[in-house]
Amino acid sequence: MNTPALTPFEARIEHATLVEQVTRWDRQYHAEDAPEVDDAVYDAAKRRLLEIEAVFPELAKNSPTAKVGAAPAEGFGKVRHAVPMLSLDNAFADDDVREFVGRIRRFLALAPDAPIALVAEPKIDGLSISLRYENGIFVQGATRGDGTEGENVTENLKTLATLPRRIENAPAVLEVRGEVYMTKADFMALNQRQEAAGDKIFANPRNAAAGSLRQLNPAITATRPLSLFAYAMGEVSEPVADSHAHFLEKLTGWGFPTNQLATRCDDVDAVIAFYHNIGERRAGLPYDIDGVVYKVDRFDWQQRLGFVSRSPRWAIAHKFPAEQARTFLKAIHISVGRTGVLTPWAELEPVNVGGVVVGQATLHNEDDIRRKDIRAGDTVIVQRAGDVIPQVVGPVPGTQRGPTEFSMVEMLKAGGDHPVCPACGSHAERIEGESAWRCTGGLVCPAQATERLIHFASRNAFDIEGLGERNLAFLFHIGRVTKPADIFRLKAIEESIPEEQKALWRSPKKDKLAQAIPKNMLEFNTSRLGTLPLIAFEGWKDKSVEKLLKAIEDRRSIALERFIYALGIRQVGETTAKRLARHYISFTHWRDQMIAAVDRENEAYHELVSIEDIGPSVAGDILSFFEEEHNREALKDLADQLTILDAQAPVATNSPVAGKAVVFTGELVAMTRQEAKARAESLGAKVVGSVSKKTDYVIAGPGAGSKLTEAEKLGVTVLTEQEWLDLINA
Ligand code: IVH
Repeated sequence: MNTPALTPFEARIEHATLVEQVTRWDRQYHAEDAPEVDDAVYDAAKRRLLEIEAVFPELAKNSPTAKVGAAPAEGFGKVRHAVPMLSLDNAFADDDVREFVGRIRRFLALAPDAPIALVAEPKIDGLSISLRYENGIFVQGATRGDGTEGENVTENLKTLATLPRRIENAPAVLEVRGEVYMTKADFMALNQRQEAAGDKIFANPRNAAAGSLRQLNPAITATRPLSLFAYAMGEVSEPVADSHAHFLEKLTGWGFPTNQLATRCDDVDAVIAFYHNIGERRAGLPYDIDGVVYKVDRFDWQQRLGFVSRSPRWAIAHKFPAEQARTFLKAIHISVGRTGVLTPWAELEPVNVGGVVVGQATLHNEDDIRRKDIRAGDTVIVQRAGDVIPQVVGPVPGTQRGPTEFSMVEMLKAGGDHPVCPACGSHAERIEGESAWRCTGGLVCPAQATERLIHFASRNAFDIEGLGERNLAFLFHIGRVTKPADIFRLKAIEESIPEEQKALWRSPKKDKLAQAIPKNMLEFNTSRLGTLPLIAFEGWKDKSVEKLLKAIEDRRSIALERFIYALGIRQVGETTAKRLARHYISFTHWRDQMIAAVDRENEAYHELVSIEDIGPSVAGDILSFFEEEHNREALKDLADQLTILDAQAPVATNSPVAGKAVVFTGELVAMTRQEAKARAESLGAKVVGSVSKKTDYVIAGPGAGSKLTEAEKLGVTVLTEQEWLDLINA
């Protein structure tokens, strides 16, 4: 068979089949000393793998031709954080910091010259943890996890010499948040010991700290030199301070290690000066930092400022400039995203960029590559900043250039007449006015399908442990999971396979195995895979299958906002998903309203676009999703497998405005529009942008216009700002 004649989809299937067999034969040969095929068959299979990988290099990643790593470790127990552990927004330029302070000023309606004190502290490059004390005793420690739920690492944390096990004069419940890290000196010494013992070498102090804390055996953690800085508060049973600076003093008093460089600054110029000063001293600090964190000092202001999505409005991380390195750009490839966007990426000669080895980098899009004139064969600068995907900055001036200019069309034509998707061969097109190319294959494109599945199971969506990229690609290849609902059928399939057949795959006797595996892998018919238990495949054992099925069962009931986000509708990120969930409350109501809104001219549509931040463009993408018959069917199929939990009941159900739809119009005096909205939402009200029969209150200040007229016409209750404040008891 000729490899170029394979479609990418056929290549994947054949490749997966071969991988499964070669890996098993490898194991039989090395571990069991009992190969069931002769060398010629084995070599032919290996050659065929290499042939396919030469044409489809992306397949080489999960291949025995490149030998892959060890099975995942058993997990830790889970801990639900009483107060979510948030992340921080980033600032890169000084002006971003000025804007941050400006936003705070506007939100709190402070005068242009009113002082806003901030505490500036180094941003430690480690991993964040939460420490819970009850009646002064350390009772539980957890990693951040997804911010809502982390891993229980209590015993491991107890091995840290500087972690207070008991504190005096603390409130009944006190949660302290901070960073576990490894000093540069400890990291170097640890790596030397590891090397001498023939053990794993860590890439940087952060990885070493994470790897050490997440040891299943606390005795191993105890041998690792971990350090701690405390810097934030989680749940507390009573107030402990009125400002962050004051809280840091309290922490020090209780015996927590705090960062001595933390400084209370009176204004934005002072924090920026702090940042530049620390930047200069960075290399000489005993630990790695990747920026500076600024926090509004006053706790009452922090409270009023609250959060947007996953980050507080009252803090920001000012990052240091990206780390750069120079390397050789071996080749440019194209990957297919969840929505069909075709993104070029660079295969690089692996290079260490600020402590992390980088072998791939994004090239964004065609226009960007052209503007920078990046070519395969160039010597380039790559950079990475924090957790962002590494990028190619451009060719190094004065070095030998790659022979040919990059052309997306030519690459997509792959020698043929028309540009096609590299994964499914469907027509590829560049949409007018956009810089992106897209695959038009939709449902038939296996790359889009797998990316959608990966998104579906990902951390902020269904968060199914064990269903990452690798396992999903595998389950997709063998045809077991091709759409989200299939995930929830895995258990039934496994249970329907007779025990005797499973036993066959557990048996070490090769004659039994031989009965089930054809001698020549090229005759392997993928339809047979449908009847095999997962343990028939390399890397799966009873235990790992059981664990995966349990992780899936645990997610059969799911919050509406996660469910909506998981669908992967264009432009529907976490924030929009949350707004939709809070607005429509139940899955069926949301779905029915979306289907009704497809007409565009009716009340359901007007209601949709009245939701904050949902304009015609986002609404258009949501409705395009519902317009497709197959999406509605897939949604039904999926919903039938699940219990979709109603959106969180309004935060304060006892508030008089919980569940009420309110519209603010005209000028407000006591607080800014933004703060008024945030406050109303925290009391469980739904703030909408336009007045309809469903609106409960219109809060009208001076200068109110058409919305007020509309409210009067529809007979909606109109309140003054003061009446509203009285109502919410502010
Ligand atoms: S405060 C609500 N302070 O940065 C804000 N975070 O990008 C809670 N980090 O997950 C975080 N040093 O792991 C804070 N001095 C510091 C920090 C710090 C490092 C990490 C932390 C957090 C991440 C956010």
